[in-house]
Amino acid sequence: MDDGGDAELEAWVENQETFEPPAEFVDGANVSDPDIYDAFEENWPDCWERAAELLEWDRRWEAVLDESDAPRYRWFVDGQLNAAYNCIDRHVEAGRKNHAALRWVGKRGETETYTYGDLQRETEAFAAALRELGVGEDDVVTLYLPMIPELPVAMLACARIGAPHSVVFAGFSADALATRMDNADSEYLVTCDGYYRRGDALNHKGKADRAVRRLDHDAETVVVDRLGGGLPHSLSDDQHDYDTLVEDHRNAEVEPVARDSEDDLFVMYTSGTTGEPKAVRHTTGGYLSHVAWTSHAVLDIKPSDTYWCSADIGWITGHSYIVYGPLALGATTVMYEGTPDYPEKDRIWELVERYDVDVFYTAPTAVRAFMKWGTGHPDEHDLSSLRLLGTVGEPINPRAWKWYYDNIGGGDCPVVDTWWQAETGGMMVTTLPAISTMKPGSAGPPLPGIDAKVVDAEGEEVEPGEAGYLVVEKPWPGMLRGLAGEDDRFVPEYWSTYSEPEEGEWVYFAGDGAKLDEDGYITLLGRVDDVISVGDHRIGTMEVESAIVGVEGVAEAAVIGTTGELIAYVSTERESAGDADLRRAIVAGLEDAIGEVAVPDHVVFTPELPKTRSGKIMRRLLEDIATGAELGDISALRNPEIVGELRARLAGETRSYLEPED
Ligand code: WTA
Repeated sequence: MDDGGDAELEAWVENQETFEPPAEFVDGANVSDPDIYDAFEENWPDCWERAAELLEWDRRWEAVLDESDAPRYRWFVDGQLNAAYNCIDRHVEAGRKNHAALRWVGKRGETETYTYGDLQRETEAFAAALRELGVGEDDVVTLYLPMIPELPVAMLACARIGAPHSVVFAGFSADALATRMDNADSEYLVTCDGYYRRGDALNHKGKADRAVRRLDHDAETVVVDRLGGGLPHSLSDDQHDYDTLVEDHRNAEVEPVARDSEDDLFVMYTSGTTGEPKAVRHTTGGYLSHVAWTSHAVLDIKPSDTYWCSADIGWITGHSYIVYGPLALGATTVMYEGTPDYPEKDRIWELVERYDVDVFYTAPTAVRAFMKWGTGHPDEHDLSSLRLLGTVGEPINPRAWKWYYDNIGGGDCPVVDTWWQAETGGMMVTTLPAISTMKPGSAGPPLPGIDAKVVDAEGEEVEPGEAGYLVVEKPWPGMLRGLAGEDDRFVPEYWSTYSEPEEGEWVYFAGDGAKLDEDGYITLLGRVDDVISVGDHRIGTMEVESAIVGVEGVAEAAVIGTTGELIAYVSTERESAGDADLRRAIVAGLEDAIGEVAVPDHVVFTPELPKTRSGKIMRRLLEDIATGAELGDISALRNPEIVGELRARLAGETRSYLEPED
């Protein structure tokens, strides 16, 4: 690593230095009064009106919170609003129609800018087209698109007519898409002909077509021409060309539909502990208030800002903090289709300089990659436009934090390490950048109004320094409202661990391990269930393992995640197996069943998996082996001799089979 100051950095990590918000930042910050914590606590739940008031409502709420049917809470009860109106029209009406809403940079360096006026025209035309295809209020529209402008346009067009969207990440397979469309009874699909990956045109429509053929019902499909004829495709009767539809509906007027606060804005599939993904439901009023508020208070976004979140819109981070949060505030949001290392490893910094990006939000795994590539790349660019940095998705280790702070932020941008989940809708635990001391490695205190705690197995709050489980005791506006299609899983999945329903006490179980310090700062320790967070998304080990076991020749599989990497330990049916063909078959099997997102960074073949005497796979041990950590108690292990074997095999493992060009 060439960060030039290794010894200094190590000494710093030892000392656990903390940082205060830079004075200049505090002066201009959206939220800088430390009393906000007390004010929210004393005035809970009415404090949340401050979030809702960032939006424009067609009808004001009657009550802030209705707890009568807990844990099915209702927020901003009987209020009405439209999310697309809040993200677009009201900014146009405020005289900002020529302000850039979206700056898009494509994989081949193409660029496009949509002003708020452009966004209004295009979403209105597409909303009219969707209606003509038959989409009515509350019909779920599935969006299966890569990072192209038509994706946020389609989301907002759906929001305009009150049709919840279900965005399925473009890297998911035909099977995964079909499962999600069936589960949501979604009869409408928006997709594209193809997109580029590592220079090749991938046939995306082929995957979409296969999925639609597998559905239990018919579906109307809209196809965006992403490749401009680069991948000739034909359209059947129930398939429609996006550009033609938009052209045919130019100048159409579509009134934004007034939605009840509790009406669904979208569903988002996310991985859980079982083999099946679950569809988290997010509502119009609570969700939009929560993401607008946290974009304002935590990301400090101002209408004049250019803001860049490097996630994919296919995941919750992109929904909340590329599309809904920043647009609700009237800012310019950057949308980047490419990768950080193409054409060169300074790509991100080149774009930060080009667009004068004020606020940058990314995943720790990206920061670690930047760090590995060295300071030379950011040093080539003028990054002085940056005011605030953020991270999300996994814990950021103090070294990476400090590197980011020094080399990207130039030592004068606060860094917010934000903990939240698809289920929480928006940020929950993080410092407020103009108020709180930053402690690298620790996400921070719960946000004002958020009642997050760390408890032990009995549900008692832990002492500072002790590890426990992260829970949230009071409801919050952005919280999920249920699971579409299988609502009976809602209570068992999230509310059964610590709640005492007979006492009327409901406690949300987040599934994360955490530690608390004497200042109330929360340090996240990773998932405590069989869910792996990799970069900006998460996957369930069960989903991946059952796909691997489905490959001929595989006996058993155990998948773990560490520092953003996915590792699969696979035992084979025959002693000599574990060759290149089997690796390829496993990769292909995963690509079919789930998609490229589930392809492990490493596949380690082993004669057998480490198991307890009762036959359970010892995952902790597999994690310790992968991270090189000291092994915990392995007295329950039936086959301890496997440890040395696994270490040797992991060391010999390369990922060359995945990326032959590397
Ligand atoms: C993890 C992504 C540590 C955590 C927004 C959580 C984090 C899961 C952080 C949710 C953070 C997210 N520090 N861990 N700052 N942020 N996580 O639903 O395990 O894709 O439960 O939402 O990511 O992943 P999801």
